Amino acid sequence: MPTHPLVEQFQRAGQGQVFAFFDQLPAEGQSRLLEQAGEIDLAEVDRLVRTLVAKDASAGVDLKGLEPAPYEPLPDRGGDAKAWAQAKTEGEEVLRMGRVAVFTVAGGQGTRLGYDGPKGTFPVTPLKQKPLFQVFAEKIRAAGVRYGRPLHWFIMTSHHNHEATQAFFVENRFFGLDEKRVHFFRQGRMPAVDFAGKILLESKDSIALSPDGHGGSLRALERSGALELMAKEGIDLISYFQVDNPLVRCVDPAFLGWHRVRGSEMSSKMVTKAYPEEKLGHFCQQNGKQVVVEYSDLPMAMQQETDANGKLRYIGGSIAIHVLDREFVRKMSAAGALPFHRAEKKIPVIDSAGNPVKPEKANGVKFELFVFDALPFAKNPVVIETRREDDFSPVKNAEGVDSPKTSRDDQLRQFARWLKANGAAVSVDATGLPSAVIEVSPLFGSDEDSFADAWGKRSPKPAVVHGLYLV
Ligand code: UD1
Repeated sequence: MPTHPLVEQFQRAGQGQVFAFFDQLPAEGQSRLLEQAGEIDLAEVDRLVRTLVAKDASAGVDLKGLEPAPYEPLPDRGGDAKAWAQAKTEGEEVLRMGRVAVFTVAGGQGTRLGYDGPKGTFPVTPLKQKPLFQVFAEKIRAAGVRYGRPLHWFIMTSHHNHEATQAFFVENRFFGLDEKRVHFFRQGRMPAVDFAGKILLESKDSIALSPDGHGGSLRALERSGALELMAKEGIDLISYFQVDNPLVRCVDPAFLGWHRVRGSEMSSKMVTKAYPEEKLGHFCQQNGKQVVVEYSDLPMAMQQETDANGKLRYIGGSIAIHVLDREFVRKMSAAGALPFHRAEKKIPVIDSAGNPVKPEKANGVKFELFVFDALPFAKNPVVIETRREDDFSPVKNAEGVDSPKTSRDDQLRQFARWLKANGAAVSVDATGLPSAVIEVSPLFGSDEDSFADAWGKRSPKPAVVHGLYLV
């Protein structure tokens, strides 16, 4: 039987081990392996092995000339109130014109949370236990009503959770959204290699493949036809956020407006870091370009540096909320546009006899793309400040910081703040946490403004009691 051309290609590239058990496999196994092999760009793998795995590959991030990036502070923290007001007006305008799509990256595996299903199905709200996806869906529905244009929502999944994610939306009737405006697509996968650069097998008929990182979203948007669809629908702005953060404003007029006013191709929101060791990426600039340096890459001494007033120098923490121009995404979706990062991992593999091995220590390297690596290529990238309590309280860990408990409390604080600002009597502790369990549906109010409008119209006003649910 002639050798399959793909097998030959792998052999020529020095990756013939991928097909070591090919002849023993039933037809089904063979086609599975061939299909996976067909996903792999061998030239890309070869380049990554040379630049990121080989012994002489340069390690670490270049910190030369690194400085904190400038940002637009909030009006009550020294920012220009008129410019903020103008930005908000501009943003409302693009929303009314239907030029904005919402985009959630939901391909991660929730390992730290210890949750098995897709992370978006995790229940997060204090009273109704709504899952993350429902919170976003209702915010998106509410924005569609507020601006008179229903929004398209794109959700990036991974091979691992794609079916389960779609099934969840079907079971829940898309949480009241028009299903024609909710689009799912899978992110790409990358093979893991051993320290000699050889692609690893997970089983005889399966390559050790893993999601290509949230930066893979840019090429997945292009490959899936999402950008095409946006162009057809007259959408040129993409509101990007991560699946783990129920406080996020899925669309934020002021943010969209800053992006437009500045002629930015990719904009970002920052919060001031709560403490030096906080695990956030840092907004920096280097040789005139904007960059994000991960918490793991910025030496602790730099994270702790303070200015003359004792304020942290690298204060701008990334909360992974961006606005991207559609055409900028298209440009950045080209192969090789974004750099890959390497992560040494314990990767379950098979040995040369085909027996499964669960390694005790890192046995190979996975490759990932990060979305913020597009920033240095963007024209006029702008960073705006946001209040943490308005935009960021992620669910990342099972316990402690950024856990279901902290996120629930932050949602409660937000609901209490909105109520109090509108004259309701709510008893709260010193941290603003209400004693009553309350929940505001995004369909009632999803930010300060929409809440104030809805509360103003509500008559009679309900008393704030334990179990209050506003919808
Ligand atoms: C991330 C950012 C960090 C930022 C913080 C804010 C990185 C490397 N770091 O950290 O700069 O301050 O969030 O919360 O991103 N995802 C995919 N596909 C993938 C990998 C991830 O869709 O292949 C999605 C996840 O579903 C999740 C998001 O990306 O929505 C974040 O991924 P995660 O690995 O949890 O990032 P963090 O380390 O928390």
